[in-house]
Amino acid sequence: MAAGEFEASGNGQPPCPYGACDGNGWILNEDGSATECRCRQPRLAKARASGVNSVLPKRYRGVSFDRPPVTEIHPGAVTVVRDWIERLDENLDQGNGLWLMGDTGTGKTTLAMLVSKEALRRDHTVAIYSMPSLLTRIRATYGAEAGEESYDQFFERLCEVDLLHIDDLGAEKQTEWVLEQLYALVNERYEREKSIVVTTNITDQGELEQQIGPRTVSRLTEMCGESVVPLFGEDARQKPQLRDG
Ligand SMILES: Nc1ncnc2c1ncn2[C@@H]1O[C@H](COP(=O)(O)OP(=O)(O)OP(=O)(O)O)[C@@H](O)[C@H]1O
Ligand SMILES: [Mg+2]
Ligand SMILES: [Zn+2]
Repeated sequence: MAAGEFEASGNGQPPCPYGACDGNGWILNEDGSATECRCRQPRLAKARASGVNSVLPKRYRGVSFDRPPVTEIHPGAVTVVRDWIERLDENLDQGNGLWLMGDTGTGKTTLAMLVSKEALRRDHTVAIYSMPSLLTRIRATYGAEAGEESYDQFFERLCEVDLLHIDDLGAEKQTEWVLEQLYALVNERYEREKSIVVTTNITDQGELEQQIGPRTVSRLTEMCGESVVPLFGEDARQKPQLRDG
């Protein structure tokens, strides 16, 4: 939670602006039931609007090494990810990255979610975004009003989380602004030695540099070192018999 935005009430929550609840958004009734306070929805909206997304998408919430689809994914790729996760604390501490690249429907996002899931389980802070949704989120800060999170605050959060997980890098429509945002973020994390896990469909170096900028590619390449995982093959989404065992 953002500190200093409100004065906290006794339970650590900002006080109820209507004086109706104790700050937790619920009004306790005599019979023990609870009624939603008027302040609750604005509170939720605010929580959503501030901070970073650290929720695994529903599809990937149950990911695990010991069951499909991970058991169906190319074993070489799975091994690299497993090893990376085994040294997760060290990798996050040293700002090492992990880069999954390759064809559509081969398990890149699935494997990246394993990393985020484990990082969250170990109480690290994680920001999970697809590149297009990250850009949308950044744009939304432009219209921030007083009291809402500004661009600088959001950007700082993205730079400070223990792990930044960007899915579908290169899937965004490329503009000068997009290149600048991406470079600023990757460069800042590079300088602070903070980890990034990325997935992308682009495997051709030239095409990648074209799409996300050579300086960004250069930094990501250094951060990820040996941990660049190629995933080629058929689209598992088109082969339903392969899914779920
Ligand atoms: N090797 C595989 N065998 C069987 N099922 C798989 C395999 N890889 C992925 N899947 C399943 O296929 C779907 C797509 O997986 P995932 O989202 O990880 O692919 P992706 O590589 O990120 O694809 P894209 O490039 O389109 O984002 C998911 O439902 C996943 O469970
Ligand atoms: Mg994907
Ligand atoms: Zn209230």
